[in-house]
Amino acid sequence: MPDVPTGTYPRSPLDLDFDTMRRLGYRVTDTVAEHLSTLRTQRVLDTLPRRATERLIAAPPPARGADIDTLLAFLREHVFAHAAREPHPGFIAYVPSCPTFPASLGDWLAAGYNFFAGVWPVAAGPNQIEVLVLDWFRAWLGMPNGSGGLLTTGGSAANLTAMIAARHGAVGDDPSRIPRLIVYGSDQTHSSAIRAAWIAGIARSNVRLLACDADFRLPPDALAAAIARDRAHGLIPLMIVANGGTTNTGAVDPLGPLADLAARERIWLHVDAAYGGFSVLSDDGRRALAGIERADSVTLDPHKWLYVPFECGCLMAREPKRLKAAFQIYPDYLKDAESDGDEINFADYGEQLTRYARALKVWLAVNYFGTDVLREAIAYSLSLAAHAEALVRREPAMEVLAPATLGILCFRAHPAGMDDPAALDALNEHINAAVNAAGRFFISSTRIRGALSLRICPIGFRTTREDMADFVRDVAAFAASA
Ligand SMILES: Cc1ncc(COP(=O)(O)O)c(C=O)c1O
Repeated sequence: MPDVPTGTYPRSPLDLDFDTMRRLGYRVTDTVAEHLSTLRTQRVLDTLPRRATERLIAAPPPARGADIDTLLAFLREHVFAHAAREPHPGFIAYVPSCPTFPASLGDWLAAGYNFFAGVWPVAAGPNQIEVLVLDWFRAWLGMPNGSGGLLTTGGSAANLTAMIAARHGAVGDDPSRIPRLIVYGSDQTHSSAIRAAWIAGIARSNVRLLACDADFRLPPDALAAAIARDRAHGLIPLMIVANGGTTNTGAVDPLGPLADLAARERIWLHVDAAYGGFSVLSDDGRRALAGIERADSVTLDPHKWLYVPFECGCLMAREPKRLKAAFQIYPDYLKDAESDGDEINFADYGEQLTRYARALKVWLAVNYFGTDVLREAIAYSLSLAAHAEALVRREPAMEVLAPATLGILCFRAHPAGMDDPAALDALNEHINAAVNAAGRFFISSTRIRGALSLRICPIGFRTTREDMADFVRDVAAFAASA
């Protein structure tokens, strides 16, 4: 230990004393705890148009500060009130993010200590936590020892990181070959993977989105034919982006046959499992995602189905050195941190140099609850879409458009005798808006084979079978009164 200095040092007004920090911290904790423990009594969504929020919130930065109670009161009344309550049991739109409280505290610890998790020496302990958490994910996916990667801001960043690494592996430093690179996916591929290809310099016309089959999956035969056609034209097949749970319907592409094809063709197989990946913790999820362990890289999103707060994505690569080959760079001012051995500088594996220790929230939550509790929560939430499907099938005026798959259900109201597609779309748009205006549930719509569909993704851990029954009953009532 160094000698503790004994002199008197001037204190910055920014440097709060112990008691003040505790008081402020408890005020914030009370605010969050009150919010989370009363979610069921709140509306799931309140929003305002931009002009209205501007009137409430816009102000010049004050020359003098205010006390924490005034500020928290302002935030609660004018800011937090006008937003979706993501962790609400009725939030079943898009892909819900429902963090546990210990996971949120992990972010608080990471911010409070403010570790720099870009290079090893300045955050050896927190970086080791990231190494550990990544290895848990690797084992859950069933990928071989030695696979690794990094935590990212989200699934979009993970998809982009994989795309850049694959591009580097294919063309190295020769940009003249980039125009010949081709990326493959299905028409269900997430927009972030498509955008990743664009950012990587791959022309929009070189991103092949093949028609999915009747189960919304990428057909390997059609893909093999497309690859053969492209090779015959002198193009370079770069990457297959397979889905480990599509956002639209939860469909999982045939990962085993795609891995065979990728191996035969020597193409990078990336599985975008941002949505569905953590379902591997449950038996049904593991079965659905069989073959994921053969991917060259996998995108996961702990901020979706591992119950940690935004932002937390993950890229897991079978050969992490391929990420390093694409991203590592050491200017003079970082030479001290250069790693020549075991130590991992996470900045070498992606685009972010300054990064916070987001692994802490995963570690804290997994250790606090244990994997059994998380596994049960995931298995239960997987069962909810199936339960909702059974309830929908009992309703004579409703129709399933895409059966419950990996936690997602698409369906619509379809009264007897109403067969005009435009009228059905209008009815279901009305139901979507009515459900959301009522404030008990927040859902989103999509299109299934052209038809407007109600879509639910009930994976938050507060959502129950009873909620599903209430929800289907509400839809029936809105349909009847339309
Ligand atoms: C399948 C899939 N891939 C990628 C993403 C993008 O992830 P993020 O929003 O965390 O950047 C999403 C987000 O919903 C997704 O569902």
